[in-house]
Amino acid sequence: MAAALRSSPLILLVRILLALSITSAHRTPGKQQAERLIRSFNLSPNESINIFHNKSSTEPAGLADRRFRFPGLVEDAASASSIADLGHHAGYYPIKNSYDAKMFYFFFESRGSREDPVVLWLTGGPGCSSQIALFYENGPFRINRDLSLKWNDFGWDMVSNLLYVDQPIGTGFSYSSDDRDIRHNETGVSNDLYDFLQAFFQGHPEFVHHDFYITGESYAGHYIPALASRVDRGNKANEGIHINLKGFAIGNGLTDPEQQYAAYTDFALANKLILEADYARINQMIPACVQTTKQCQNQDDACLTAFDQCNDIFGDILSIAGDINYYDIRKKCVGELCYDFSNMENLLNLDSVREALGVGNIDFVSCSSIAHEAMLGDWMKDYEVATPPILEQGLRVLVYAGEYDLICNWLGNSRWVEAMPWSGQSSFVTVNMTSYMVDGQEAGLVKSFGPLTFMKVHNAGHMVPMDQPSVSLQMIRGWMNAAKS
Ligand SMILES: *[C@@H]1O[C@H](CO)[C@@H](O)[C@H](O)[C@H]1NC(C)=O
Ligand SMILES: *[C@@H]1O[C@H](CO)[C@@H](O)[C@H](O)[C@H]1NC(C)=O
Ligand SMILES: *[C@@H]1O[C@H](CO)[C@@H](O)[C@H](O)[C@H]1NC(C)=O
Ligand SMILES: *[C@@H]1O[C@H](CO)[C@@H](O)[C@H](O)[C@H]1NC(C)=O
Repeated sequence: MAAALRSSPLILLVRILLALSITSAHRTPGKQQAERLIRSFNLSPNESINIFHNKSSTEPAGLADRRFRFPGLVEDAASASSIADLGHHAGYYPIKNSYDAKMFYFFFESRGSREDPVVLWLTGGPGCSSQIALFYENGPFRINRDLSLKWNDFGWDMVSNLLYVDQPIGTGFSYSSDDRDIRHNETGVSNDLYDFLQAFFQGHPEFVHHDFYITGESYAGHYIPALASRVDRGNKANEGIHINLKGFAIGNGLTDPEQQYAAYTDFALANKLILEADYARINQMIPACVQTTKQCQNQDDACLTAFDQCNDIFGDILSIAGDINYYDIRKKCVGELCYDFSNMENLLNLDSVREALGVGNIDFVSCSSIAHEAMLGDWMKDYEVATPPILEQGLRVLVYAGEYDLICNWLGNSRWVEAMPWSGQSSFVTVNMTSYMVDGQEAGLVKSFGPLTFMKVHNAGHMVPMDQPSVSLQMIRGWMNAAKS
């Protein structure tokens, strides 16, 4: 168990620690556990959540959308001409149906065509800032050692108008002065994001008619289907501005815990993380996990039990596998460190950057242990069930997974996608995976029927756009383009 704790990396992950703490002899407060996990990404937020009670001393002066430019952006000859009129925005929108929540976002107008779709990206955790993806996965730039920025040729802003939001409230630069704005489930999360999108499109009416896609990773496997349902409901009820939702994409997500927890041992055996004897023993834990997970779907008080029982499966595998990085089984963690995202915090703490962004005295909470803990009762809820109503309208769904991720592995994702009942299911299951080619090489395996696509990405772990930037850009571009034909 200790080894597992040490090796914990990034996102979904914070929770595993908590699970281990619950089942281990030495119980430490969940918050402490989460903070330990956060350190494994080499992050060190000063606050465990952005909820403060003295507005006058903390709230940023201007709460508007502003165009900004990162002070450390290195201009290269190729892009110098376009830098002058970068459409880069950052700011806050107040969340209407909250007590006092303000949600922070970055918005990067497309480097391709202004007519490109609007794409929302959500990082998981729960409780980690979407800026992890901005700077380490699919954003317009990467951070140099000296905290200057270089352009990322494979940023998704090459093909979309790209929006990153810090959520749930209290995460990243998003904040409130009221504890009641801390979220505990997808109802709260999706309502806040819906309110955010309403405010965003009101502030940017020129983008209202663009195609709109929801994307993200890891725990966003919960957020994304929940938000798609919320947008769909708002559209049908004419609640506000009609949002031109065309589909959603989930990368290495946690969507259907029952299917996904039951797949851990098969994935682990196939990848030689455990032996046959371990496999047989650990498999005996699956029926109880499955049963309580089923109960959790309509009985909230079963959800933490399900969480503990199911995470024992994962914890057991880790205790055998040793110090592997469970976001990428090809890698090991060195000491506490599995990834090093500390430059994101260093960058966002520079006075010049904070001033450009207009965040006032608000701390940057890279991952919020409190926002994370608050969502634990949501963890084992199934969001596969939110997907068929989206598909039946012809809206497109892409589920993709880097093949070396353990925690939200491709096998569990493939299983829930195959098992999902919808009108195209019987056809989808008969389709074989075929090669997905990028630059003349097989970059993954893919299958599609109608609006549903599943893709397994080669040579990638949990964070596909970080590990395979070019493949991920072609994937998202191709998928969105296919919607037009
Ligand atoms: C934490 O606070 C210290 C002192 O104010 C500051 O120098 C540091 O950058 C902060 N770190 C983070 C991650 O906010
Ligand atoms: C709130 O902040 C202001 C400005 O820093 C300070 O003058 C005031 O004493 C603070 N109030 C409380 C209750 O801490
Ligand atoms: C979601 O959480 C809120 C508290 O934040 C609670 O009032 C509400 O009943 C919960 N909704 C569901 C569907 O669990
Ligand atoms: C899928 O692959 C199997 C085994 O290779 C083959 O028998 C089957 O005909 C294929 N199905 C389709 C629709 O191509």
